[in-house]
Amino acid sequence: MTPLSRRSFLRSSGAGLASALVAGHDSHSSDLETAPAPRAVVSPTPQNLAPRDTLFLTWQRDPTTTITVQWVGPALEDPTVRVVPRDGAEWKTGTVELKPFGNTNLKVHRCEFTGLTAGTEYLLQVGKRVPSFQLGLRPETYRFRTMPAKATDTFQWVSGGDCGTGPHAIGTNVIAAKQEPQFALIGGDLGYDNGTSAKTAIQFLQNYTKHMVDPKGRLIQMVTCLGNHEVRGGYKGKRADATYYLPLFDGLYKDTTYNTLDFGDYLSLVLLDSGHVSPIGGEQTAWLESALRAREECPHLIVANHVPAYPSFRTPGSAPASGILGTLGIKEKAGGTGEENRKYWCPLFEKHGVDAVLEHHDHTFKRTHPLIGGLKDKYGVPYLGDGSWGQLRVPSKPESRPYLAAVGNAYHMSVHRLEGEQRYHVALEESGKIADVYGTTGKRPAKRG
Ligand SMILES: [Fe+2]
Repeated sequence: MTPLSRRSFLRSSGAGLASALVAGHDSHSSDLETAPAPRAVVSPTPQNLAPRDTLFLTWQRDPTTTITVQWVGPALEDPTVRVVPRDGAEWKTGTVELKPFGNTNLKVHRCEFTGLTAGTEYLLQVGKRVPSFQLGLRPETYRFRTMPAKATDTFQWVSGGDCGTGPHAIGTNVIAAKQEPQFALIGGDLGYDNGTSAKTAIQFLQNYTKHMVDPKGRLIQMVTCLGNHEVRGGYKGKRADATYYLPLFDGLYKDTTYNTLDFGDYLSLVLLDSGHVSPIGGEQTAWLESALRAREECPHLIVANHVPAYPSFRTPGSAPASGILGTLGIKEKAGGTGEENRKYWCPLFEKHGVDAVLEHHDHTFKRTHPLIGGLKDKYGVPYLGDGSWGQLRVPSKPESRPYLAAVGNAYHMSVHRLEGEQRYHVALEESGKIADVYGTTGKRPAKRG
């Protein structure tokens, strides 16, 4: 990072925030590999929700020209959702689709606009249609911006995972929003609803809606991928087990729980399911290979998955058996964290020029070296994570896991700044402290240093 851009980043990062919150363990720090078993009784849901309580923006297709407006609440008859460029005059009115929200009496309201102008700030009105004789009662007005058509100007977005609904998740929301990100990518384990708690899923949205607004008052779009705490049982579930996740995000995950999101011709997000509904191998891996091959030349090709290939807390390999079996090198059981990722996915990331993989689930900050086959290689793929937006654990040290380049145990999210061919990945703690700055340039192997 040049001195100037680093200085300007530091200035805009909120690094001067006075109160560094104490990084302690919380109720989720004993996260289980498997989420609790399904409960027969669904937890009560908040009533009297208005659109403004859970309103958020996401995407189903190219973020340069589209936006999807969503909220959860009682079915709103004939709602108004309309947008207009901030300096325009012609409002465009959308059609609102109502969908069930799990087995609650609430509805997901979804309204997509296409054909918007790239790189433009819009006004958005959402609410009950107002009769003409009551025009003084305007629906609520919000602001957002579409993604730029080309990556000619510097822009940034944020990522992280494993949020929950506690005070640290909110604290990280606040520091994330201060960065004026174009969007937030949450890599699984959003609210920890476990597919059973509508109340938790709604609380996550309420927190996001309230705090993920940038300093200029613009809503920050949300992109997600699936984690174990969105699915009843955590792993090997069915779509219906993602009880409160897929009703919100099946615009992007219509037929599968993995997909790509292409931003014009300059940024592609490849969003994977690390075994929660879709198995890692087989169909998903075959799809991944073709998706990556088609995007090899994309200037910024980023993958996100929940369970890490290169964990910083959990054990990556099979546990050695105790006693004489251990001394003979015999493993007790197969299935270390990330084994299937490393077997099926990592070779494809290396082959097809993935620029960074965003990982989560282990509740730490970690950055690996650029890796090929698990070994440091200047032309390799860096893995960034490890999911401590609102959950925390103590990571292993790089000395004991040579693939790790940097670790930390503070609540954090990452700010990704794209400057032409240059990428900066800045790990920013809840307190505003910069934990790590990492940069790569261009595509491997010709230009990356
Ligand atoms: Fe997780």
